[in-house]
Amino acid sequence: MTQQSGAFWAGREILLGVSGSIAAYKSAELARLFLKAGAKVQVVMTSSAKQFIAPLTFFSLTGRPVYDEMFSGGPEEATAHIELARRADLVVVAPATAQLIGRLANGLASDLLSTTIIAADTPVVIAPAMNPQMFAHPAVDANIKTIASWPGYAIAPPTEGELACGEFGLGRLADPPGIVEFCEWFLSGGKQDLQGEHVVVTAGPTFEDLDPVRFLSNRSTGKMGFAIAQVAARRGAQVSLVSSVSPPTPIPGCNHVKVRSAQSMHDAIHALLPETTALVMAAAVADYKPKEQAPTKIKKKAGPLAIELDRNPDILASLPKDPKRITVGFAAETDHVEEHALGKLKRKHLDMIVANDVTQPGSGFGVDTNQVVLLKADGSSESLPMLSKVEVAERLLDQVRTLRAAKERS
Ligand code: C5P
Repeated sequence: MTQQSGAFWAGREILLGVSGSIAAYKSAELARLFLKAGAKVQVVMTSSAKQFIAPLTFFSLTGRPVYDEMFSGGPEEATAHIELARRADLVVVAPATAQLIGRLANGLASDLLSTTIIAADTPVVIAPAMNPQMFAHPAVDANIKTIASWPGYAIAPPTEGELACGEFGLGRLADPPGIVEFCEWFLSGGKQDLQGEHVVVTAGPTFEDLDPVRFLSNRSTGKMGFAIAQVAARRGAQVSLVSSVSPPTPIPGCNHVKVRSAQSMHDAIHALLPETTALVMAAAVADYKPKEQAPTKIKKKAGPLAIELDRNPDILASLPKDPKRITVGFAAETDHVEEHALGKLKRKHLDMIVANDVTQPGSGFGVDTNQVVLLKADGSSESLPMLSKVEVAERLLDQVRTLRAAKERS
């Protein structure tokens, strides 16, 4: 949740829809977070959700009776869906099962929750939670894409991880604080305008092993790349994060492809290339690696030790040309920033390069801010002020979107 959350949520009416997934217990925490931020929460559950969590839990948290069945009470209950829909400023369905998503995508108002969503004239956020196979199924994927294409609707992407079924993959309900943040972003005008894109983002350093316990590396932490992956996913892109380091918590909507050396990063990117529409190389790839990798720990001896280094492949320069894909590189420089960056843009046949002076305070390694210049192959450039890395990611992805649209037209 952001610092402004309190003021942002005060007095807002949230209709929290809970459908029948094992992740339903997490929606109690979600309700609590919205309430803590000052919002009012009305819970509507499907009948299968009640198998996972008791309505009493939500009643105790929200102080409001939970709605579940249609036509369960007196005549006034018959129009409950209209009343509920009218009252809400935001509808959030978390967790949303494949069932609920299927009903909604097809306009099937077959229970109180789906009927209320369809009757609502307010923004709707759907947070899917299901087994990874189910999430990847073409029917579910098509339903999600349908919902995401409707104005006023957004999909809060699930995270990758181990699920209750024991499988690992994309399908875990996004963390409750992440869902609140997503809703805040969406209600503040955030758009899922990268639907249909597959963005591959690299982040962090590479590790070039000398022996089983030692390596050569650099000071990159991965923060810039993680921010790009996070923003691309929340804007609706399919995202593959290729990195040696892991983000502090899994990034919603991202598949993490773990690599170690420049060579393994090169191989992972080439494997993803056929389906990549935009590659953003934020990683600080080592230019050199030890010529030999000792199979056992190198022992110390009297006198100096010389280590011979070999060139690593230049990943960007190794990519085959593609008329539709956008390729973005980074240039971390200490002097003649734009001049050096432009040289790289040309040598590596990039569509855009993000140049920054890493000697400037608040710019470069390890910090949460960055000050960059975006230089494009057509000679145009955009010099950004000091911004958070998330904001830099937004601006960078705006450019990627424009460049992609131009390539699709050509
Ligand atoms: O040439 P330099 O390393 O400064 O270029 C930086 C850009 O090139 C970054 O986007 C980085 O990820 C990428 N790079 C690469 N392969 C390398 C070294 C850097 O793709 N071996």
